[in-house]
Order: sequence, then C-alpha cells, then structure tokens
Amino acid sequence: MKCRICTNSIEPFIFFGKMPIANGFLIENDFQNEFYFDMNTAFCEKCFTVQLEHQPNPDMMFHENYAFFSRQSKKMKDHFKEYADWVFKNYLIGKNDPFVIEIGSNDGILLENFSKKNIRHLGIEPSANVGNEARKHGVNTETRFFNTDTAKHILNKYGSADVILAANVMCHIPDLKNIAEAASNVLNKNGLLIFEDPYLGDMIEKTSYDQIYDEHVYIFSAMSIKNIFGKYGFELINLLPQSTHGGSMRYILSKKGSYKAEKIVGEFLLKEKKMGLDSPKTYEKFRKNCEKSRNDLIKILEEEKKNNNRVVAYGATSKSTTILNYCKIGADLIEYISDTTPIKQNKFSPGMHIPVKNYSNFIEAPPDTTILFAWNHAEEIMEKENKYTKNGGKWIVHVPNVKKF
Ligand code: SAH
Ligand code: TMP
Ligand code: ZN
Repeated sequence: MKCRICTNSIEPFIFFGKMPIANGFLIENDFQNEFYFDMNTAFCEKCFTVQLEHQPNPDMMFHENYAFFSRQSKKMKDHFKEYADWVFKNYLIGKNDPFVIEIGSNDGILLENFSKKNIRHLGIEPSANVGNEARKHGVNTETRFFNTDTAKHILNKYGSADVILAANVMCHIPDLKNIAEAASNVLNKNGLLIFEDPYLGDMIEKTSYDQIYDEHVYIFSAMSIKNIFGKYGFELINLLPQSTHGGSMRYILSKKGSYKAEKIVGEFLLKEKKMGLDSPKTYEKFRKNCEKSRNDLIKILEEEKKNNNRVVAYGATSKSTTILNYCKIGADLIEYISDTTPIKQNKFSPGMHIPVKNYSNFIEAPPDTTILFAWNHAEEIMEKENKYTKNGGKWIVHVPNVKKF
C-alpha cells in the first residue's frame, strides 16, 4: 500500500481480520447483508503516520442513522465546556464578533457553549440525526462533510473564521490535504486550527488496540501531526495532553509563520522519539501485546462461562466492535451489552451479533460480572455503579491489562 500522506510504500504490521462498520448496530434481517472490510494497520517510517490500509466509504459510516451521540457521557459534557472556555479565554476574548467553526459537531456538545454566549458559530456535521439534536440545543448546524467545497460555501454565506475546532473527527478523515486546504481557505490570517484525537502514545502504552476501527483511519502523534500539516501549510504551535477517550492530545496549529511554536512542542517530539513512536520495532511489540491481550480476554471470559457466571458488557462502544470481532467473542460468552443510547438498543452488535439492551436491564437484574467496554468512561461509570460493586458485582477490564476485580 501507499502512505496516504507521503506516498511511501508501506506494509501493515497488524491484521485484525474482517471487520464490520464499528457503529453499524443492526437488526436480525440485516445480518445477511452486513458489510465487512479487511482491517489492517500500517506505520509509515517516513512521515511516522499510523493508518488503516482500507477504510470503508464515509457514507457507509456517517449518515442519518449514526449511532454515536456525544451527550451520552456527563464527563464529556464537562470536558467540552472546559474546551470551549479554554478556546474563548486564549483566542477569542476581546475579538470583535468572532466566528467559530466546528468540524464533526455531532449533537452540539461543544458548540452549545459558544451558542449560550451568543458567539457566532457553525457546526459542520454530515450525520443528519445527530445534527438535528444539535439544532435542538441552539447550535447552528449544516448537514455536510467538511472539505474544500464546504469551505467555499462557508466563505460565501458566513465569511472567514477565527478558529476551526474539532474533536475526535480529524483522525476519521483520509484526505487531510483537502481538509488543510479547506481550513486554510476559511481561516483568517491569524486563524487557528485546533483539534483533539486519541493519542498514539497512550494507545501503544496501554495496548488499547480498540482505538483502531473503521472511523479511525489515523492514530496521531505530535510527530505525525507536525509532518502531515507541515506539508500542507500549517505549523504545530502548541499541544495539550487530555485524559479523555483513554488518553488524547489537543493540537493547536496556525498558518505557517503567523505564530511562534511553544517549547512544549519540541519537548514532546523528543519524548515521542524516546518512546520509539518513530520505530517499526515499537509496532511489532504492540502487535505482540495485542495478541496477548486477546488471549487473556478469551481465557478470562471462558472461565466465567465454566463457573456459570452471568457476564454482561457495559457500553456498546465502537471500540468494542474491534475487540469482539478480533477476539471472536459472541453471545455464548456475553449475554448482552447494556447501553443508554436509544438508537443502539434492541439491535445487535456489528459482526458478532450480541444483543444490545436498555440500561434498565442491568439495573433490574445485575449480572455476576460486567466487562467494561466503555473503559474510557471508567471514572464516571464506577461512581454511577458503586451500588453494583458494593453488592459484590465484579468487573473485567482489558486496558491496560486484562483483569478482573
Ligand atoms: N466531536 C464529537 C463527535 C465525534 S464522532 C465528540 O468528540 O464527541 C465524529 C463526528 O464527525 C460524527 O458525528 C461524524 O458524523 C462527523 N464527521 C465524520 N466525517 C466528517 C467530515 N469529513 N466533516 C465533518 N464531520 C465529519
Ligand atoms: P465512547 O466510548 O465511544 O464514548 O462510547 C460510550 C458508549 O457507552 C456510548 O454508546 C454510551 C455508552 N454509555 C453508557 O451506556 N453508560 C454510561 O454511563 C456512559 C458514560 C456511556
Ligand atoms: Zn508517510
């Protein structure tokens, strides 16, 4: 395959097998026609980018029945309020009539904080159902993908922007050249492109291979962001580690030459080199760690079955689609998956077809053991389920190591 960024010839270092659409929760009638692709991940030694070999067409993932609603987590609501306040304090305060754009604004969880302050804003969100939810929260939203055509449309209708924000979407978009060009066209001279995504360093450290699924065509590091966006006219001027989604990074980029880069950027690049994020050996080791994690998880679930324990999963996450299909874990090992998102309930998980049920089932008949698929929301969930734990309910987590407690 060719690297999407630098066209270097690269080979996958891990093969996860056939994978369905990670957020493609489905009904029994659709089992026959379920779509699968080969999920392989490669590392480019030239530009240090970690990327999928194949990614399904965006229309197959992002549409009017998109299953991920950002508002399902209270902690994420707090996080996005902090993100908005931080942007406001650092980049917008004192500006005359600032304009903020968000790429992948989903149900408006971030932009509502600007809307409430009467700041001019626009969400670009291709999945119509989540976009409708955003409008209900007073967030101005256009149902479309962000790209150079959308940039033209924005300039005509709204004018140029002071900041373009994004969270957990830049890593979804294969053609970053087009995104950078679009962002550059829309931003005014001193405008900033600010986004956060799951961080490669955390994924490697925690063996959280479930960050890899169809939507995540890239897993970024500071090194790769510097190289990718550097090629397309932007400069990485600052970064800020985040605890969200199991370890993320916020990147702050400006048009080349308009700001001076902070010291922390250089420090992080050095740190990543020390971690070996630029070395194929690191990814070989990661593959071995993934295989061990898979074996340990299967073993622990088989033991539960042998002991006649009822096992339920918590959170029908997109990440769990990778775990279930890579480990081939089905309804013989997990009774059902509990999830609070209405659109996921009474459907089946992609590929392995485990039933997804309303959270009330979990509360009414607590299982012996719960596998925490939404491990990135552990703090929030452990607080919420403290009664289950006090009453002797057990948990299985698989990150950073498979364990039961
Ligand atoms: N920002 C939210 C949502 C992340 S999910 C959060 O962090 O919780 C990714 C979102 O990006 C989805 O709602 C999806 O529909 C949208 N998306 C995917 N590709 C996009 C593109 N090219 N332009 C704009 N939005 C996109
Ligand atoms: P995420 O890990 O991609 O954010 O997805 C989390 C999923 O878990 C989402 O479908 C909502 C669900 N969830 C619950 O069911 N209960 C909870 O308390 C939380 C925080 C999430
Ligand atoms: Zn490359």
